[in-house]
Order: sequence, then C-alpha cells, then structure tokens
Amino acid sequence: MPVELWFPVPFLVHDIEPEVRDAIRAKVHAYLETEGAKRDVTLAPSESVTTSYYRPQASILADAKLVELEDIIMQAANGFLATMQLPPRRLEVERAWINVFTPGSQEAMHSHDGSLISCSYYVEAPENCGNIAFPDPIGARRSYREFTQTAGDNFLTLREMTFEPKPGRIVMFESWVPHAVNCNKSDKNRISIAVNLRQAR
Ligand SMILES: [Fe+2]
Repeated sequence: MPVELWFPVPFLVHDIEPEVRDAIRAKVHAYLETEGAKRDVTLAPSESVTTSYYRPQASILADAKLVELEDIIMQAANGFLATMQLPPRRLEVERAWINVFTPGSQEAMHSHDGSLISCSYYVEAPENCGNIAFPDPIGARRSYREFTQTAGDNFLTLREMTFEPKPGRIVMFESWVPHAVNCNKSDKNRISIAVNLRQAR
C-alpha cells in the first residue's frame, strides 16, 4: 500500500563557478575596506553578527558591485519558481546585506517575512564556521517527534536540516522558512551575503 508525501519544503543549493566565486570574494574584501563599509557594516543590536542589515538603504550588491552575483541569484530564483511549477514572474531585490560572523558569533532563529524568496551566498566559510540550520517548520510535528520518539535521520523524520556553508555556495528558500546560523567555532570570519527577492513592482 503506497504512502504519499505532501507539503514538502523546497531548497536550492548551488555552487557557482570557482572563477566567479573568486572574483566576488575579491570585490567583497575590497568593499569591506571602504569607508562605506565601516559606516554600514555594524554590530547587530541584539546579536553577535556584524551586518549591514540595519542600514536598509545600503545594498551590498550595488555597494560591492556584485552584478554577477545578482544575475546568478535571479537565475537561481527563476529556476526555483519553475521547479515549484509556479508561473514565471518578474523579480527584484528587496534587500541585500552582508553578514560578518567573527569567531564565536551566531544568529538567532528568524525568517524573512514579507519577501518571496531569500538566499544566503557564502563568501568565506572556514571549517566549523556554523551551518545554516532549518528546523522542521511544522511546529506541531516537532512536538510530536519529541513525545512519540519518532525522530530519525532521514528526510521524513529529521527534526532539523542544516546546510554547510562553502565559499561560492548559494542556499535559497522561500522567505517564510525559519532558520538560524550556528556558532562560528572556527578562528576565522564567516562572511555571507543575504538577499531577499520580491515580485517586481
Ligand atoms: Fe536569514
């Protein structure tokens, strides 16, 4: 008797070409040395991450001239929507910011409500710098797994999915999906770029 699966949560994980990755890394490091970055990339009010998120008028894609990254993200997002069998729609960047996780930094659980698709792109990701972690977004099922001891290690019974950051990697998801960033236990900075996309206005 077949068992059917419903209500999946889509993720796109893509590693970009090494030459493009290296070009982006060089531009991001050059940007971080600028006066603009010193003004815009500041410590988050209640977290240990240093980020330009709290300067919504700053866009890391524009400020670091990351046209190639914006193109790749748009392409990925169009493919993401196509995989979901949604009709194509014109997308635009709602917000794009940079996060610098110094050793010991982490980011609390949150979602990017109000946007359509979100992604993280990893510029620097030393070993043990903290995975991006997605708990099973069905809260009732997480409690159920605890009470019934039905948690397992496959995609049907996992309580949490994590993705390892890697330089040049994009992790894309629908903006509602809650996630956190685990502690950077390396002795180097973990640098990511986050982008929210919305339907073009
Ligand atoms: Fe996030």
